[in-house]
Amino acid sequence: MSLLSKIRCAFTLGQGLLIENKALVTTDDPISFFKNWLKEAENSGIILPESMSVSTSTKEGRPSSRMVLLKEVDQEGFVFFTNYGSRKADELEANPFAALLFHWNMLQRQVRIEGRIERISHEESEAYFHSRGRGSQIGAWASKQSELLDERQTLVDSVKFYEKKFAGKEVPLPEFWGGYRVIPESIEFWQGKADRLHDRFVYTQQDSTWSITRLNP
Ligand SMILES: Cc1cc2nc3c(=O)[nH]c(=O)nc-3n(C[C@H](O)[C@H](O)[C@H](O)COP(=O)(O)O)c2cc1C
Repeated sequence: MSLLSKIRCAFTLGQGLLIENKALVTTDDPISFFKNWLKEAENSGIILPESMSVSTSTKEGRPSSRMVLLKEVDQEGFVFFTNYGSRKADELEANPFAALLFHWNMLQRQVRIEGRIERISHEESEAYFHSRGRGSQIGAWASKQSELLDERQTLVDSVKFYEKKFAGKEVPLPEFWGGYRVIPESIEFWQGKADRLHDRFVYTQQDSTWSITRLNP
């Protein structure tokens, strides 16, 4: 860890949640609270603060996790993009619930999100796909994500194939690629504090309203 990172950690450790105790809760909107934390993570200099772990599980309840990038967050939920033929997608189609996890180490913060998942609309995926660089668009076509690859050259050849196929044309959205939205049912904000006496607040949604509870660290 660089000296600068250590200084940042020492500085942030012990800073509490904005909501120090329940009486001071200023918002019943966890999404805007999350956006503030994400903004603070961006401002802290953390690399890829929008990266998050997404956990899925098979119908039999066997879990798996991997990192993805959060591309959109609003009152509807948390959106990431992927290949609809990937392992995570197979698991999400069989068991449409997911858990997201953010960890912003320098800020001593963690956010846990759990909820139902659904595919975003074709139009939304299309809009995002066309905002990506051409290399990423070709890459989406070339990779059969999560399938066995005999050797790297096969992937390189696949890239060449699609570069040629779409030469001089707009790269279309592959039908096997798009976004998922996690519709949160609970969101926990964790702020590290001295002596492991951390703050934990959980927003839980019931009948379209959020309730807030505090948990022991
Ligand atoms: C920081 C980071 C960001 C990533 N972002 C994405 C992403 O947005 N979408 C994606 O499909 N894979 C992303 N990946 C790759 C995934 O972690 C994973 O390898 C891939 O999606 C295949 O996962 P699966 O076989 O479980 O479906 C990212 C990896 C890292 C380390």
